[in-house]
Amino acid sequence: QVVHLADYRPTDFVLERVDLTFELDPKQTLVIQRSLMHRREGASEQAPLVLDGDELTLKAVAIDGNPIDESQYSVNDKQLVIGNLPTGVTFEVTVETIIDPEANTKLMGLYRTNGTYCTQCEAEGFRRITYFMDRPDVLGVYTITIIADGSANPVMLSNGNFLGAGDYGDGRRFSAWYDPHPKPSYLFALVAGDLGVVEDTFTTMSEREVALKIYVEHGKEARAAYAMDALKRSMKWDEEAFGREYDLDIFMIVAVSDFNMGAMENKGLNVFNDKYVLADPETATDQDYANIEAIVAHEYFHNWTGNRITCRDWFQLCLKEGLTVFRDHEFSADQRSRPVKRIAEVRHLKAEQFAEDSGPLAHPVRPQLYREINNFYTTTVYEKGSEVTRMIATLLGRPMFRKGMDLYFERHDGQAVTIEDFVKCFEDVSGRDLTQFSLWYHQSGTPLVSVSANYDAASQEFKLSLEQMIPPTPGQQTKEPMHIPLAMGLILEDGSDAKAATVTGGEFTDGVLHLTERTQTFVFEGVANRPALSLNRSFSAPVNLHFDQSAEDIVHIARHDSDLFSRWQAINYLAIQELTAAVKTTEAGGDVAASPALTSILMATASDEALEPAFRAQVLALPTEADIAREIGSNIDNDAIHTTRNAIMYSIASAIAGPLEYLHAMTTNNGAFSPDAASAGRRSLRNSALTWLSHIDDGPARAAAAYAAADNMTELAHALTVLAHRFPGSNEAEAAIAEFEQRFAANPLVIDKWFMIQATVPGDTTLRRVQDLMRGSHFAPNNPNRLRSLIGSFAMSNPTGFNRADGEGYRFLAERIVEIDGRNPQVAARILTSMRSWRSLEPGRAAHAKSALLAIDLSGRLSTDVRDLIDRMLKS
Ligand code: ARG
Ligand code: ZN
Repeated sequence: QVVHLADYRPTDFVLERVDLTFELDPKQTLVIQRSLMHRREGASEQAPLVLDGDELTLKAVAIDGNPIDESQYSVNDKQLVIGNLPTGVTFEVTVETIIDPEANTKLMGLYRTNGTYCTQCEAEGFRRITYFMDRPDVLGVYTITIIADGSANPVMLSNGNFLGAGDYGDGRRFSAWYDPHPKPSYLFALVAGDLGVVEDTFTTMSEREVALKIYVEHGKEARAAYAMDALKRSMKWDEEAFGREYDLDIFMIVAVSDFNMGAMENKGLNVFNDKYVLADPETATDQDYANIEAIVAHEYFHNWTGNRITCRDWFQLCLKEGLTVFRDHEFSADQRSRPVKRIAEVRHLKAEQFAEDSGPLAHPVRPQLYREINNFYTTTVYEKGSEVTRMIATLLGRPMFRKGMDLYFERHDGQAVTIEDFVKCFEDVSGRDLTQFSLWYHQSGTPLVSVSANYDAASQEFKLSLEQMIPPTPGQQTKEPMHIPLAMGLILEDGSDAKAATVTGGEFTDGVLHLTERTQTFVFEGVANRPALSLNRSFSAPVNLHFDQSAEDIVHIARHDSDLFSRWQAINYLAIQELTAAVKTTEAGGDVAASPALTSILMATASDEALEPAFRAQVLALPTEADIAREIGSNIDNDAIHTTRNAIMYSIASAIAGPLEYLHAMTTNNGAFSPDAASAGRRSLRNSALTWLSHIDDGPARAAAAYAAADNMTELAHALTVLAHRFPGSNEAEAAIAEFEQRFAANPLVIDKWFMIQATVPGDTTLRRVQDLMRGSHFAPNNPNRLRSLIGSFAMSNPTGFNRADGEGYRFLAERIVEIDGRNPQVAARILTSMRSWRSLEPGRAAHAKSALLAIDLSGRLSTDVRDLIDRMLKS
């Protein structure tokens, strides 16, 4: 049951066209598939047609209209195998199956959500609809007919362009769709139900008018306005930034409330988790708006990077995901503040991908094998995949990168291709050999670059010695040196960058140093004064740096670097150094306080009116408890980290109370709500000030006042968080929790925030609260968003509450995982990844974590999703 990249071979049969007819019924849907295909040239004449299937009831099979029986086919719970098929001619296979959408709790294939029929096929859900060559290199042109009860299903949608609809006169209606663009089965989609719609149009660069429709539950139309705006901006941006034009007459988004992931890029018919569509100021935070913008763009951008050009096999997943994440990152950077966006990306990359890369689930951006492909929709494939794309752009420069992308679209349109095909395009346009660079796709683990620098005044030389080391990861004990592009600058006294006359020791182009050897020394000649080294500007390479840089140099960078990202990076570096050292002090029984250097650079930057508020808020956000744990790396005691971080915050807040008060006062809301980046930045600075002040406030009064005064969800949810997390159990906190619940009881997406805030209250008593909430009326054990916001956020985002020293958090999670796995393996597996770093815990916690994992291991019938993770996490 392990799939190997090396075993790839094309199918014996080539698909041409697919005709699907659905007779929708909640419990007994009939699916009639008619597919035209022919035997591939060179394929064996004896080769049977092997079709994938999963939980299907087979009704009938026919070849060229003639029914066949089990003398010509065989069927089991995974496959339908048909023999005696013609050679040299196109033939038609008819397969009739019955499926039960209502019983589909895995939410893969065709299922029901709040009475609406909907599908999710990536990666292998189409085989839960009909027997099929369900792999991404099998492309076909699809025609779809949907037949259903007309009054319950006035809306019936599928991919491509609308052909027509009509009544049968017996209460049933049909609707027909045709998608002219050949596509793999994972991009198929069908939606039917009674939904409201928001409509708009977009005129493309060649003056074609495209109908835009966003379908939501009735009554929620107004909350789709921002998603529509984001869609139009995405369409425009892809034309300008990449020359990509939309290619159908209609583009549709459907928002559903039960969905395993964020959203899905089905051709012409994107299906979204409604959390990433619906927004208004009363119910959505600024983060929600930013997520909607990014995900709408991401799915839209897939139309070219994913759909027009797709993956040959699932090992190539990063071909579409890494590239499309890069595209959505660039889009958001252009729509908002580039440095602030970059800071948020790097924070996320380090928190998630670096953590994944240093534990038992580490894998390359392009893996070699998998047991369950659903477990490879990871932050490594997505976010590290995006960073690898970004590095190609850095190596080539943006204009050459664009040329490579143009060639990629031209050369591979309509094909299912590999990472090698992608990289080849950039080699061909630039003439650069990317062989060594390609190790980024194949070697897992985060490279560690050790830095030593030396300035010699007499010779005016700045010498920079670098050494790269890539830690061992599962299945990869030794590594080759990689090609690491490090953007850098030598910052002089006045803040400007030194212009070195010559650089020897390796390639240095456009401010980017190319580290290609295991150890390499670069010499910068003609540097008149001792500079401060600013390395890995904009996080040009996803690596860890080990560099004993003086606090003075770090502060100099923090104040003067021309790259705003690097100013944040320097402060963050100073903070994480101090925090990890302070944890050691706490563990040795000492008292901790922040250094004057850290305190003053935080205050100076936060108060600098010349800087945008969103940037200042990022600077004020100290490394999280999880960041500190990752930096410490082993023998983690979550309580010590929590105590230490709070003590440091207390010492800083006490020292800069005045400026914090001023910031809080200066950032009050003036006028009507707007979700734009500047307004959002002001709100985040205000929220940040409130958090800091809560560390010196002797009671909840200020937070309670902020809660009462908030007129938007960003400030309301934050005030509630401060009340609940900083003043747990206080009357003010409990009153706000109750008031919030009452106010938003009818809005499940807001109740998710209420769950999350409560599930992430630090400390031992939260487990009990989570258990109570599970018994409450808002919890829905089959809804992925509810599961993730209550159980998922407890396990993933509550370091002290989940990692209770007595192991009760792990025991609780183990029971939930087994329960959830019985209904929805993908959601269970995703939440289980919260335990991936269990080996870095201190021995007591690690032992408890291990017994919880063993309890799951021994619990009997596990899905392949959970089984695969458990085996990898327990392997020594
Ligand atoms: N392709 C989708 C996206 O990134 C996500 C699909 C996730 N599928 C899965 N089986 N986990 O936009
Ligand atoms: Zn994607």
